[in-house]
Amino acid sequence: MNNTWKNKLYFGDNLAIMNEHIPDESVDLIYLDPPFNSKATYNVLFGEVNGTQSAAQITAFEDTWHWGMESEEAYRELVTKESGKLAELIQAMRSFLGQNDMMAYLVMMAIRLVKMHRILKSTGSIYLHCDPTASHYLKLVMDAVFGMVNFQNEIIWHYQTGGASKIRFSRKHDVILFYTKSQTWKFHGERIAIPHTEKALARAQNPKGARIAIDDTTKNPNDVLIIQQMNPMAKERLGYQTQKPEALLERIIKASSNEGDIIMDPFCGCGTSVSVAERLNRKWIGIDITFLAINLINLRLSEAFGKELSEYEVIGDPKDLHGAEALAEQDKYQFEWWALGLVEARPAHDKKKGADSGIDGYINFFDDNSGKAKSIIISVKGGHVTVSQVRDLKGVLEREKAVIGAFITLQKPTKPMKEEAAAAGFYIPEYYPDKHYPKLQILTIEELLKGKKLDYPPMAPATFKKAQRKQKGEDPEQLQLEDC
Ligand SMILES: C[S@@+](CC[C@H](N)C(=O)[O-])C[C@H]1O[C@@H](n2cnc3c(N)ncnc32)[C@H](O)[C@@H]1O
Repeated sequence: MNNTWKNKLYFGDNLAIMNEHIPDESVDLIYLDPPFNSKATYNVLFGEVNGTQSAAQITAFEDTWHWGMESEEAYRELVTKESGKLAELIQAMRSFLGQNDMMAYLVMMAIRLVKMHRILKSTGSIYLHCDPTASHYLKLVMDAVFGMVNFQNEIIWHYQTGGASKIRFSRKHDVILFYTKSQTWKFHGERIAIPHTEKALARAQNPKGARIAIDDTTKNPNDVLIIQQMNPMAKERLGYQTQKPEALLERIIKASSNEGDIIMDPFCGCGTSVSVAERLNRKWIGIDITFLAINLINLRLSEAFGKELSEYEVIGDPKDLHGAEALAEQDKYQFEWWALGLVEARPAHDKKKGADSGIDGYINFFDDNSGKAKSIIISVKGGHVTVSQVRDLKGVLEREKAVIGAFITLQKPTKPMKEEAAAAGFYIPEYYPDKHYPKLQILTIEELLKGKKLDYPPMAPATFKKAQRKQKGEDPEQLQLEDC
């Protein structure tokens, strides 16, 4: 075990990150849960203070893949640079599927799976989480990349949530393809063993039907895992629509890794695998392409583990003004979400779809015991700033009955802007009449990067969907499994 190791959370496209940052044969276990080509656009749903889901939904990622330049380039790379089998398969798939969305998805997956094969240790395992939309094609790709002999299981994760179909059998399972890099691998089914049914135990006690040793009261689970999806009100739920239950990841990580092993999740979403790896004392690497996910993971980890959290570094986020300018130039939504993360605020609405209401983010907090939350409204500016924008924020503040407004800007504020903000006066909380907080606060990105904080009253109870506090180690509740 390398003592200088730090866990890592990368912002960016996993293809580039794997190419540039992750060495050969360095990871023990890869779990990936990529977008499924389901034509759905997944949203992050933000819980309101009262626990219901807000209408504000942020498009987390467009789960659609279209054939374009990127797929054409990946296709050419696969056909010209990869092994005969994979190159042949990809060409055959293109001739069968044509240049459609499914083919674009498979090419994008294939090129990444090749990198994962390189990164995995020779004793490593990979679990590819998908669904029946593409699992049959992905299994062929996995056979070509990892080798047919290294296929171990097609795990069916069965759940009951959602409605029943009237025109076909209801679709209630995901598929998880489990492959190893070689014929030598770790597997500890005993760590996730489940009790035998009473029927089986009774049969075992009957001398004629004895097939189970009498002291053997548990068995390794089979390849059908019945684990319920988190219900919308589950404590574990963070509002990331594609969030997977910890119970599922707990099984995979325990069975296929030991303490101190390195787990990588290149599509880590709101960080389920990362959080379970942390709890089970594994090292981890998480990658995601949106700051919506990165911000949620940062909050999830600090709320779940507090001081127990192992040190980790976030890589790919702007560390200085220059980096922030580059991000603002490259993608204004990512810049905005990143900046909101600096003050631990939540994004306010679907920027890609909704009309601009002048609110980019908000923080709800309680500074008294009335049960009614107070709001801070946040406006983020990545470009040129003017005094009229500060005035506008003041108007929004009044309209929304928010107590504080924060104007976050990449550019330095002008003198009139500062004067306008100062003229807004102070928020004096009823409960702490001796305290006062500027009603309109202008914070530059540079100041925030140097550690400056938004100034508002200390929060009483929690205001938004917090991750459950976790004890490090096993969670027996997570291992209760239905037998089938
Ligand atoms: C299905 S979600 C993963 C959910 C996750 N298992 C959880 O429990 O929260 C897929 C994630 O992959 C991310 N993603 C999509 N394309 C990516 C890429 N090229 N590189 C890195 N992350 C990507 C999306 O932003 C999304 O968060």
